[in-house]
Amino acid sequence: MILIIDFGSQVTHLISRRFKEIGVKIEIVDYKKAIGAIEKKKPIGIILSGGPSSVYSKNAPIVSKEIYNFNIPILGICYGLQLTAKLLGGKVVPGKKEYGPTALQMANSKWQIANGLPKTFTVWMSHGDEVVSLPEGFEVLGSTKDIKTALVADLKRKIYGVQFHPEADHTEYGNKILENFAEICNAKIKINAINIEKIEKEIKNLAKGKYVIGAVSGGVDSTVAAVLTAKAIGKKFIPIFVDNGLMRDGTREHVEKIFKHIGVNVDIVDAKKETLKKLKGVIDPEEKRKIIGNLYISLFEKEMIRFIKSGKEVAFLMQGTIYSDVIESKGSKNSANIKSHHNVGGLPKNMKLKLIEPVRNFYKDEVREIGKRLGLPIEFIQKQPFPGPGYAVRIRGEVTKDRLLKQRIADNIILEELGNANVLHSVFQSFPVLTGAYSTAVKGDGRNFGEVVALRIIESKDIMTSTWARLPYDVLQKISSRIVNEVPDISRVVYDITTKPPATMEWE
Ligand code: XMP
Repeated sequence: MILIIDFGSQVTHLISRRFKEIGVKIEIVDYKKAIGAIEKKKPIGIILSGGPSSVYSKNAPIVSKEIYNFNIPILGICYGLQLTAKLLGGKVVPGKKEYGPTALQMANSKWQIANGLPKTFTVWMSHGDEVVSLPEGFEVLGSTKDIKTALVADLKRKIYGVQFHPEADHTEYGNKILENFAEICNAKIKINAINIEKIEKEIKNLAKGKYVIGAVSGGVDSTVAAVLTAKAIGKKFIPIFVDNGLMRDGTREHVEKIFKHIGVNVDIVDAKKETLKKLKGVIDPEEKRKIIGNLYISLFEKEMIRFIKSGKEVAFLMQGTIYSDVIESKGSKNSANIKSHHNVGGLPKNMKLKLIEPVRNFYKDEVREIGKRLGLPIEFIQKQPFPGPGYAVRIRGEVTKDRLLKQRIADNIILEELGNANVLHSVFQSFPVLTGAYSTAVKGDGRNFGEVVALRIIESKDIMTSTWARLPYDVLQKISSRIVNEVPDISRVVYDITTKPPATMEWE
């Protein structure tokens, strides 16, 4: 088994997923318990994860230097590398901040860790600090334009360090590097499969014959979670769809189609008016999320009481939470809170229902894979991810009926034009953002001081990283022309060309 020592990286779980994909047994342990865990579990390799801290800050998470004396191969990733450098006598300083893709140049590829790597390839960075002096015994194996110490090693002691993130989907040959490290550790490779029967059994054991109400949205995650739950407990599952008016056109009809397909009745709650009323005057993104999340849960509780009164013992709420939601809403103990996705961070503390989250441990592409294996029609699992707070987090500032309508028209134009260009299914997400910024336009002969719309069209696999879609200029032009022509009071369309990291996918 390889042991990951967690220093609070957003992607610690992603590192573990990569090793599982390679077929290596992996466990994560909090940095405070590192030494005890190594002594007890006797891993064949150790990963020191990334993390949000600086090694020289006062409360930086630190492990004992003893960790380097176990004679076990070690791979430090980002913070893990910086910590290694500092503990073994090197020097770390606040460096040039670097987020997103950059080219790595290998010094050569004679080492086992570099097996199968080309001379140059793209790696993803996300760091502010930099190792400027390596400890004794270390050498540089690969560098980028700005970071000399991008891939380093003490080959004799089998201690390796990477400043970039090999676990990020967009890092080329990232899996190969992790595979090479697993080989250095002499790991036994065993193929792990997603075990659908096990998930269903767990749901059944948890529910213990009680009723489960399910929060469904028509999105891939809640659809797959609902099908698993329906398969596990049949008619004891009551899916509920809250129509808050912040979803895409046709969402309600799509939800009805899904549950007709699996033969379960779906309960629809109309909360369109109530949602808008509660959002009146609210401009803070986190406040929007909390308001929408709280309303959502309170409506569920109301429905629960209604079902209980009709003689059904409802004790659980099923949600389609997936692993990136958990991570980005402060999932691992030491990671930073990016935003409170409403189905994780925004739950009211006094919620009376217990949670069942069948796909909580999976990434988006794994959830789609489960859906495929469950035999669901492609249209149920190919849908773009859509945030729970919906259009509210794509409208900067106050959400009004008027702005919602603009958002809806612009969103439909983008979807239509991507469909016409046959690229709709090759992008991960596409949407307009009403930016709340204003600019001048000349429409007809008059001056128009209208709102700026930003296009966000991105490619991603597992949500943890993304890049902007390199669409043909003609497609972008068509979308831009249609938005300024067809959406009232829009003066300008801009294309967001920021990667994640550093930018998140949504603007809010
Ligand atoms: P970010 O913007 O954090 O988005 O890079 C990552 C993915 O999560 C979706 N998202 C949300 N989903 N509630 C949700 O259920 C939310 O509050 C929320 N915010 C972002 C986003 O659309 C993307 O797929």
